[in-house]
Amino acid sequence: MNTKKNTAGLRGVSAGETSISTVGKESLGLSYRGYDIAELAERSTFEEVTWLLFEGRLPNAAELAAFKSELYALRELPSALRQALELIPAGTHPMDVLRTGCSMLGTLEPEQDFTAQRQVANRLIAAFPSMLLYWHHFVTDGRRIGTQSGAGSTAAHFLHLLRGDAPSELHERAMDVSLILYAEHEFNASTFAARVCAATLSDMYSAVGAAIGTLRGPLHGGANEAAMALIERFESPEAATQAVEAMLARKEKIMGFGHAVYRESDPRNAVIKAWSKKLSASYGDDLLFRVSEAIAEQMWRAKRLFPNLDFFSASAYHFIGIPTPLFTPIFVCSRIAGWAAHIMEQRADNRLIRPAADYTGPEPRAHVAIGDRQ
Ligand code: COA
Repeated sequence: MNTKKNTAGLRGVSAGETSISTVGKESLGLSYRGYDIAELAERSTFEEVTWLLFEGRLPNAAELAAFKSELYALRELPSALRQALELIPAGTHPMDVLRTGCSMLGTLEPEQDFTAQRQVANRLIAAFPSMLLYWHHFVTDGRRIGTQSGAGSTAAHFLHLLRGDAPSELHERAMDVSLILYAEHEFNASTFAARVCAATLSDMYSAVGAAIGTLRGPLHGGANEAAMALIERFESPEAATQAVEAMLARKEKIMGFGHAVYRESDPRNAVIKAWSKKLSASYGDDLLFRVSEAIAEQMWRAKRLFPNLDFFSASAYHFIGIPTPLFTPIFVCSRIAGWAAHIMEQRADNRLIRPAADYTGPEPRAHVAIGDRQ
């Protein structure tokens, strides 16, 4: 057995303990603090799930109401942050805007010590949609929007800031479910990056900044935008099937398929696929849904590869009216819950993360004076 190949990218290697979630574990599947993801997506809200990730148990009604009011009160941005956002060029990818916004907020409201970690986490949850959409409107239509929408939930708040009015119940709930599905995923690349940074006893803003930079790549969070770019190219499911067949023959990767841990299916896919279908009906044109289904069928037929959460999220977001460049930033607005929970867990029982490496360089050799070198 080639152990080196099998453990490349640390696949299958346990890099620590967590009580926050399980990914693909026997009899647990994907669960947050022991609750199955499908049940949370059906019966909970994003705020409830965030509280669960932080506290280890579901909140009661009073605790949830208090948590929601706390987030509600943290949505306004300091004027220096608004000014900084206005200086970011219009062509910037919104993930870079959030990375910069996170860093700037860290200079204005630094985490003085770890006793303030929950306040910093809450501040980032409340402020990310505000930062993103303040900048989005400023560069697209020159407007300086207010960032207190008055909406009770993060999902409705996001859509309200984006569109300027309250979303329908259908859109709010679809967005809320998507935030639940994206909130946490054990030791994925961005969460691990956050933990590595947190383990040096750095501050929460730095750890979250590291996570945003890691999530940005197309092999991680960026896959939902790449999936959208693919599905919108086709005029029919048949054309999509043929094109994907040709792409696979050229050994191209199809973004939104496959997973580093799951082998048979991504448990989040069934949930988001059902929402995409429901949203396509209200959108009045289900072409993108049918194209997505055709691609998924072809990927399974040809490669036994299944859609991950990112694939049907693309069409779902499109049906809600969200511009494609905002897809990965929404992942940030949700995964901040998981990142913060992991940063706090790391700090609670910390040891610097410093793995070893297998050396593949030259044998020891003598230094040669510059004049004697070839
Ligand atoms: N499209 C086409 N082929 C794919 C593929 C995809 N999306 N995902 C994996 N494969 C193929 C690889 O080319 C490789 O084939 P080979 O053995 O012939 O070289 C094989 O399946 C194993 O893939 P590999 O990339 O080594 O697996 P991994 O565990 O390292 O990768 C991902 C996991 C997620 C990085 C990978 O599936 C991928 O790049 N997917 C697309 C990006 C994506 O959707 N990311 C979001 C993840 S939630």
